[in-house]
Amino acid sequence: MASNHRNGDSHIHHLPKKPKLSSTSLITPSEIQSEFCHHDPSVARINNGSFGSCPDSVIKAQQVLQLEFLRQPDHFYFNCLKEGILRSRTVIKQLINARHVDEVSIVDNATTAAAIVLQRTAWAFAEGRFEKGDVAIMLHYAYGAVKKSVEAYVTRAGGCVIEVQMPFPVNTNDEIIHEFRKALERGKENGRKIRLAVIDHITSMPCVVIPVKELVKICREEGVDQVFVDAAHAIGCTDVDMQDIGADFYTSNLHKWFFCPPSIAFLYSRSSPKCLDLHHPVVSHEYGSGLAVESAWIGTRDYSAQLVVPKALDFVNRFEGGIEGIKKRNHDKAVEMGQMLAKAWGTNLGCPPEMCASMIMVGLPASLAISSDSDTLKLRAHLRENFGVEVPIYYRAPKDGEVGVITGYARISYQVYNTFEDYTKFRDAVNKLVSEGFTCNLLSN
Ligand SMILES: Cc1ncc(COP(=O)(O)O)c(C=O)c1O
Repeated sequence: MASNHRNGDSHIHHLPKKPKLSSTSLITPSEIQSEFCHHDPSVARINNGSFGSCPDSVIKAQQVLQLEFLRQPDHFYFNCLKEGILRSRTVIKQLINARHVDEVSIVDNATTAAAIVLQRTAWAFAEGRFEKGDVAIMLHYAYGAVKKSVEAYVTRAGGCVIEVQMPFPVNTNDEIIHEFRKALERGKENGRKIRLAVIDHITSMPCVVIPVKELVKICREEGVDQVFVDAAHAIGCTDVDMQDIGADFYTSNLHKWFFCPPSIAFLYSRSSPKCLDLHHPVVSHEYGSGLAVESAWIGTRDYSAQLVVPKALDFVNRFEGGIEGIKKRNHDKAVEMGQMLAKAWGTNLGCPPEMCASMIMVGLPASLAISSDSDTLKLRAHLRENFGVEVPIYYRAPKDGEVGVITGYARISYQVYNTFEDYTKFRDAVNKLVSEGFTCNLLSN
């Protein structure tokens, strides 16, 4: 990568190609099927949210790159890698409306991006820029790994972490905004400083689209130093516009909803003096060259997933309306399928349609007696093994005085490869369990 550590010059003759944002021939239903023909046909895969999906044309392009590297690694390293990663960053920059390509780094995943941002917070405590007891705010529904990262880098460094309690089911953005303001007030008690807010764009479990733009604005008004948006699910799923959202740091995986193979995420950091001093936790020869360059070489490994972003964009552009069209149709279908299931089971959705993207929470019948997180895992395995349905389930503990309420919500996803039959298979499986008097107590540990 850098000419100073591999005994050679880096010959970069080509400027990154401009991403093509339009397409002439639209993909047909049978072409969609063959793009995802590697999916196990016995499984109704209504969980795109967890691991995403990658079409055959992108997998093939990745394999070509892997072979090119193995064929002549030195040539690939000196002449192709850096240029290819810059090309991917340029595509991402345009997709997310960043001001400059230097604001965009490519990392493995959202977990890595969170470590990069939070490590910086830990240094601020260690180097005396933050004081013990300074505050970080995060949502109660923050992703488990990110919560652990906050524990590892903020709590351990002396920071105080305040969680925003969120209602679920949720009906309006105002309910979220209200709780967020309450947490900020608590954070500022006794003159404490709020150094960082970690806000999800789409929470994982339960999934809800969070009004990030409004929350970022509130953070600015309330003097929160910096805002990091964990948008692991966002690109390809909901609107992702850096200038509009206005966060300091923002990460999203491209392997979830943007058809890239695992694993690739971008980490945006606003070009501002306040956003400097970000470093990749894996230190290489590139340390100090800026996060984008540091992240583009973290030692010898397979970088092919980071190089196929233009190919994923080509795939996306075979659909009517490109990524915007995909997002809208997936959203509409997720809502339609969610409503169909809720009606069939006599339950309700976890949020109104305008608060979800391509995933939605659907209440499961109370008679299934889901009464712990462990029940959700057992029921999920039961559905996988006995009915060929893959869907994550959330446990919502009843509040004081609540009796006979829905305690389990399934998170269904809709992606371009899904069919109506995927959801009727799930509907019928649950109906069968209910008609047989099944309860989660019947599942062994
Ligand atoms: C909100 C959120 N943050 C972070 C992650 C972690 O993503 P990854 O495993 O790709 O790092 C996820 C994964 O589902 C997520 O939903």
